[in-house]
Amino acid sequence: MSEAFSAFAAQVRQHSPQLAVILGSGMGTLAADWPVLAQLRYVEIPGMVATTVVGHAGMLTLNAVAGVPVLLFQGRFHFYEGHPPQQVERPVRLIAELGVPHLLATNAAGGIAMTLGPGSLMAIRDHLWWKSPADAVQFQSPRPSVYSPRLIGLLHEVAASLELRLHQGVYCAVTGPSYETSAEIRAMRSWGADAVGMSTAHEMETAAKLGIEPAAISLITNAAAGMTGESLDHHEVLHEAARQATNIGRIIAGLATRLAAT
Ligand code: 6GU
Repeated sequence: MSEAFSAFAAQVRQHSPQLAVILGSGMGTLAADWPVLAQLRYVEIPGMVATTVVGHAGMLTLNAVAGVPVLLFQGRFHFYEGHPPQQVERPVRLIAELGVPHLLATNAAGGIAMTLGPGSLMAIRDHLWWKSPADAVQFQSPRPSVYSPRLIGLLHEVAASLELRLHQGVYCAVTGPSYETSAEIRAMRSWGADAVGMSTAHEMETAAKLGIEPAAISLITNAAAGMTGESLDHHEVLHEAARQATNIGRIIAGLATRLAAT
């Protein structure tokens, strides 16, 4: 184990953050808004590799967010990069090893529900997999939602106090890397999905399995494919995410403050 990693882990244990956050596409820059208490590059973490996707920096930092310590993962691993489940879930396992009890994941997603236009924020109530790449994991049937009702409640409280509209809905996880066809979006809508994206679901299931209380927020960056007739690429997703990141940051600060007070 590297010296850098041991030193970082010691810092984290000393501050005992109550919240870890995995920042989604285009939201990594948020970390720069808060003083850094300690930092570590992903490549120095045992079992972790460098991130390859634009907008995912590959840095882990411990920040003072509104005076409260929060562990921030700038960059995540996706199935579409070819990573196996063990790599995708590595940040979550690290959170468990460091003893952080709550996890908020953020992501950029396409809006399926008519009420979710670009810029909307959605607390994830439950997810469905278009096709799970990790379906060897055993769960009871039917699997209850892994998303913590308590944390969802806190998120709504925080959003209300900031006068931000926070929707709630079902996230459809796809492996990617390709976006959906219009027919797939229609099918997803009929299944009850409100938003679609390429991350988060496996992280949340892993967190629940490890006894970490998970919640997630989708930032809707665009209408899902086929709804507006316009084409979509990753750069547009990044652009909209960066534009809306400030509000996600305010929600993170509000949640961290509340969790530190309980
Ligand atoms: Cl439309 N689809 C998927 N799979 N991921 C997205 C998206 C759409 N928009 C942002 N991320």
